[in-house]
Amino acid sequence: MATERSLLLFKPDAIQRRLAGRILTRIEEKGYKIIGLKMLRVTPELARQHYAEHVEKPFYPNLESFITAAPVIALIVEGPEAISVMRGMMGSTNGRESAPGTIRGDFGSSRQMNLIHGSDGPEAAAREIDIYFRPEEICEYSLDLAPWMLASDE
Ligand code: RTP
Ligand code: MG
Repeated sequence: MATERSLLLFKPDAIQRRLAGRILTRIEEKGYKIIGLKMLRVTPELARQHYAEHVEKPFYPNLESFITAAPVIALIVEGPEAISVMRGMMGSTNGRESAPGTIRGDFGSSRQMNLIHGSDGPEAAAREIDIYFRPEEICEYSLDLAPWMLASDE
């Protein structure tokens, strides 16, 4: 079992709909640690860097317009298998198909305005953390609660 870091974005729709606190609460209640957090406006350049794999796709112009339209909150979340656990909590891309109980499944019904981004693998996480955070902006600390969240032999 690996401790991982994932880069999350609360997308512009999450900020505009004032859902950031509720989404953050879910992550905290799950027992994961926030080790970086900032609000910023994604520029077209940053969008192209972040979503490099999608730049040539037909939906990219709309994705860029959406992600640059209002501020986002970027977070680094750390914890056991954080990358896949966060993806599971987010739900599948299209809010109309995401399972109830997931963030996208509970709060949205759009394929584009799906509230949250999460890294989809270790390489993406490392690349995205580097895009959004300088090393000195990452806060390393221990949670006293940690011994109560996971057995020592897991
Ligand atoms: P994300 O990268 O934001 O975490 O989302 P994802 O992995 O679930 O989905 P991905 O396929 O990587 O798509 C990135 C974002 O682009 C928008 N999208 N629009 N119109 C479309 O067909 C379409 N497909 C994707 C969504 O905002 C999606 O999260
Ligand atoms: Mg993706």
